[in-house]
Amino acid sequence: MTDDLFDQVTPAERVQALRVQLHHHAHRYYVLDEPEIPDAEYDKLFQELQALEAAHPELASPDSPTRRVGGAVLAQFASVRHAVPMLSIRTETDTEATGAQAFDTRLRRELGLSPADPDLNYVAELKFDGLALNLRYERGSLVQAATRGDGEQGEDVTQNIFTIRQIPLKLSTTAPPAVLEVRGEVYMRRDDFEALNERQREKIAQGAKGEKTFVNPRNAAAGAVRQLDSAIAAQRPLSFFAYGLGEVVLAEGASAPDSHHGWLMQLRDWGLPVAPQTQLAQGAAELVAFHQAMGQGRDALPFDIDGVVYKVNSLALQQRLGFVSREPRWAVAHKYPAQEQLTTVLAIDVQVGRTGKLTPVAKLAPVFVGGVTVTNATLHNEDEARRKDVRVGDTVVVRRAGDVIPEVVSVVADKRLADGALFTMPRQCPVCGSAAVREEGEADYRCTGGIFCPAQRKEAILHFAHRRAVEVEGLGDKMVEQLVDANLVRNLTDLYRLGFSALVNLDRMADKSASKLLDAIERSKQTTLPRFIFGLGIRHVGEATAKALARHFGQLDAVMAASTEQLLEVADVGPVVAQSIRTFFDQAHNREVVEQLRALGLSWPEGEPAARPVLVLSGKTLVITGTLPSLSRDEAKDRIEAAGGKVAGSVSKKTDYLVAGSEAGSKLAKAQELGVALLDEAQLLELLNGSA
Ligand code: IVH
Repeated sequence: MTDDLFDQVTPAERVQALRVQLHHHAHRYYVLDEPEIPDAEYDKLFQELQALEAAHPELASPDSPTRRVGGAVLAQFASVRHAVPMLSIRTETDTEATGAQAFDTRLRRELGLSPADPDLNYVAELKFDGLALNLRYERGSLVQAATRGDGEQGEDVTQNIFTIRQIPLKLSTTAPPAVLEVRGEVYMRRDDFEALNERQREKIAQGAKGEKTFVNPRNAAAGAVRQLDSAIAAQRPLSFFAYGLGEVVLAEGASAPDSHHGWLMQLRDWGLPVAPQTQLAQGAAELVAFHQAMGQGRDALPFDIDGVVYKVNSLALQQRLGFVSREPRWAVAHKYPAQEQLTTVLAIDVQVGRTGKLTPVAKLAPVFVGGVTVTNATLHNEDEARRKDVRVGDTVVVRRAGDVIPEVVSVVADKRLADGALFTMPRQCPVCGSAAVREEGEADYRCTGGIFCPAQRKEAILHFAHRRAVEVEGLGDKMVEQLVDANLVRNLTDLYRLGFSALVNLDRMADKSASKLLDAIERSKQTTLPRFIFGLGIRHVGEATAKALARHFGQLDAVMAASTEQLLEVADVGPVVAQSIRTFFDQAHNREVVEQLRALGLSWPEGEPAARPVLVLSGKTLVITGTLPSLSRDEAKDRIEAAGGKVAGSVSKKTDYLVAGSEAGSKLAKAQELGVALLDEAQLLELLNGSA
């Protein structure tokens, strides 16, 4: 926090201000699981306070945030006094791999080793970014799970932890210790986190009250663990890694490993998850190598880490080294660059994706986060942008973890200077000007430009050329990419204007392949109406709907001119589909593209509008139950539908026939009760043949 403008404050005032801020942020972080500022920012404030207190011992105070290990215990949970305190590890934020060298040197000195003595053995682990947990097993059964709390006392979260499948309720051994406390980290995998937030966004889009998205996997995990309703906790996908021990009372006569790694392997044997990256390392060099390898592999891991941890392997040596204040001398954590940082929003743009989805994107003052310089961060959709209330000029938390696209996590409310406007999604595509619409129950706005919209070019061309659309053989992903990037094809019509000389100049394009592609394009001109309609890529119009439209209207002009009401008469076309077709053809430029394609020679046999034939089972609803002698369920269903009937899953008053095979159960009873007509397979086949 830079108060440089008002640098006249005294150290006492600054200390006081920092304590107030740190208390506030610690409460948001530990109690509410809803931090306002990134950890890196918190660390900065914390270190500033530490430095001031060190320089001015007279300002020390027992209730300073610097005197506490962790969070306060939330009153709603029963509190648990830890049998062995849950300490923290010394964390060094130097991001250089050489931190390992310094650690090794320090330990060798403390143990009085000379350079001639052999390397120390270490265990190199990941530093998981989650929530520390103590699992207490008595005679092999999980009896209690507690959070770290302030290190001395934590919260009893046993009920919630029971919902984590990875944590065994019983140790898989016939000779368990009398007491075994396993310490480790609860975390949420990145994919689970993304899926959870996606579900939350949908709930919010559908108007659910009291739902929110989560800031990052760690907060989502912490929120789930400290959720008072364990049914809700159960819906939050959590994972766990063991990394250490608390109280251990061995069974009579039992022996135990004498090294940290030995214990981890023992825990793994007993069914506890131990991270596969955990490894033995000899001397500083192997620690450095581990730090480097994990730093490079960090993005590819399925979960967030914020660094690595080195621990002395031998328990005897650990004991000799002991503790300084509340930290063991035998362990150290080395952090990687933070994945969340503060920056300011310069503008909010709207980007159009390949499928027409409109995404609000914050343009940021460049910031180094998660190992790269970020200048853009997604705001996902209109609701999210408005809910987070991101405005131009705001200071925001930006997060980039793994290869997930950077996102704006939250606004730092007390840093708002200018009063920018609340974000609204444009109702027109910023790329092509077509109407942008948001359908009911959907979170996203979409450009309706389709084939006309340059942002959707590649996708639209690929779709049009698809085997099930007009089919241009050999026009795949790579080819379309090249054609569009070389600016040879700007829209569908350009495809039919391509010449030989333009094509042969492309990468890896020989004479022969150029003529082959031109031939395929030429052949695609003779198509069918359903293929052409499908190829237009109208939202919600798949192959089946395209066929139904062609059958119903016979001619393209009739489809283009049909009113929503007329469209609704088509089998399988509901209000959403009808509206989408209408919106598409209402755009002058879409009609223009269709006209040009026809002018360029695309044609298909047109027919008369089909008077809808009345089929034997038109308007009838059938239910199938039991095993039919010769037809499979699917075959029976296909044949019923081909005859105009509908197949429903359960019997009701609306059921016209129940088709019953052998071993028919409750559906048969229900049908008899309601007086529904029964058919066996033979009778069904007669009916289908029109002979009944
Ligand atoms: S060992 C006495 N190992 O980092 C040593 N901690 O300050 C106790 N953490 O919140 C901790 N990964 O939950 C240890 N591989 C690891 C860890 C780890 C993450 C967390 C721990 C605690 C903090 C330690």
